[in-house]
Amino acid sequence: MLIVAFESSCDETGVALVDASGSHVPRLLAHALYSQIDMHQAYGGVVPELASRDHIRRVVPLTREVMAQAQKSLTDVDVVAYTRGPGLAGALLVGAGAACALAAALGKPVMGVHHLEGHLLSPFLSADPPEFPFVALLVSGGHTQLMQVDSVGCYELLGESIDDAAGEAFDKSAKLMGLPYPGGPQLSKLAEQGDANAFKLPRPLLRSSNLDFSFAGLKTAVLTQTKKIGAELDMRKADLAASAQAAIVEVLVKKSMSAMSQTGLRRLVVAGGVGANALLRSELNSACGKRNIRVHYPELHLCTDNGAMIALAAGMRSQAGLQDLQESYTFDVLPRWSLQAANL
Ligand code: KG4
Ligand code: ZN
Repeated sequence: MLIVAFESSCDETGVALVDASGSHVPRLLAHALYSQIDMHQAYGGVVPELASRDHIRRVVPLTREVMAQAQKSLTDVDVVAYTRGPGLAGALLVGAGAACALAAALGKPVMGVHHLEGHLLSPFLSADPPEFPFVALLVSGGHTQLMQVDSVGCYELLGESIDDAAGEAFDKSAKLMGLPYPGGPQLSKLAEQGDANAFKLPRPLLRSSNLDFSFAGLKTAVLTQTKKIGAELDMRKADLAASAQAAIVEVLVKKSMSAMSQTGLRRLVVAGGVGANALLRSELNSACGKRNIRVHYPELHLCTDNGAMIALAAGMRSQAGLQDLQESYTFDVLPRWSLQAANL
C-alpha cells in the first residue's frame, strides 16, 4: 500500500512516499523537503501568511520530485495523507487542500495525521528503531511533553510544559542574544565555545515531584543577564549560550529520568527538533547508560519537520487498523489539537 503525505504545519514543506504493505514498519521510498528558514530569517521568526503562500509554491514540485525519486506514478498511490494539526491554520490548509484535491482526482481515500504523532513515531525510520512500550520525550518548537507510549495510537501524557516549550526557550534565548532565527541550532553551535558554568541560570521545576516543565523563567533570566552585561554581551555570548543550553538540557534529562522511574519502562524515545541537540543527546546517552535504559532518536535530518514522519504515522496507523479512511474530500484543519484527543 503506497501512501503519499504532505507536511505543511509551519515553515517546512515536506512530501514523502512510504510503502505500508504488510505488517513491517512502513518503508520510506522517497521524501523531499523545502525549508523556508531563509525567507523568515529577515523577520526574526515565522510570518504565517508568507509561510502559507510559500507552501503553495512548493507542494506540487516537491510531489513531482518524490514520485520521480521513487520511480512511481501518482496513479500507484493508494492513500493520501496530510498533517491536520497542530500548526499554523493557513499553512495547514495548504497541505490539507493539496491532499484532498489529489485524493479526489485519484479517487483514493485521505487521512489527516497529527503532527506530533509523526514526530513521536519518527525514530521508527532510524537504523535502530524502538519497540513498544516506551517513554517519549517530545521536544519541538511548540511542545515539550513526556508521554507513555504503549502502542500506535495509545499515548498517555505524563507531563508537559506549563508555559514555553524547550524549543521556544532555545529560540527566545537566542533572539535575546542577537542570534538569527531559528535560534536553537545557532545557540547550540555557539555554546560549543562557551563555559556552561559562567552564568547561574534557573532550572525551573527541577525538583518538583511532577513531570511538568516550565521554561518561561529561563528566558527572563537570560534577558536579565543580557542587560546586566550590556556592552560585554559580544564577548560573553558563547558563555551565556552554553549556560542557557545547559539549563534546558539538565531539566529535560532529569525529568526524562523521573518518567523512566515512574513508569518502570526501559526504553526512551526522543523526538522533535530539539532532539537534534548534541548536548541533549550526549547527556541522555550517559544518564540512560547508567540506568541500563535504551534510548532511541530519529535520524538527525528527520528530527525537525518533514513529510517522511507524516507518511510513516499514516502507514503505522493504517497497519494498526486505527484510521478511518475518509472517502469524502471536504476537509478541516485543527491548529490546536492535543495528541490525546487523537488517541483511539
Ligand atoms: O519539531 P520542530 O522542527 O518544529 C515544531 O514542530 O515545532 O522543532 C523546531 C524547534 C525549534 O525551536 C528549533 O530551534 C529547535 O527545534 N532545534 C534545536 C536544534 N535543532 C532544532 N534546538 C536546539 N538544538 C538544536 N540542534
Ligand atoms: Zn514539528
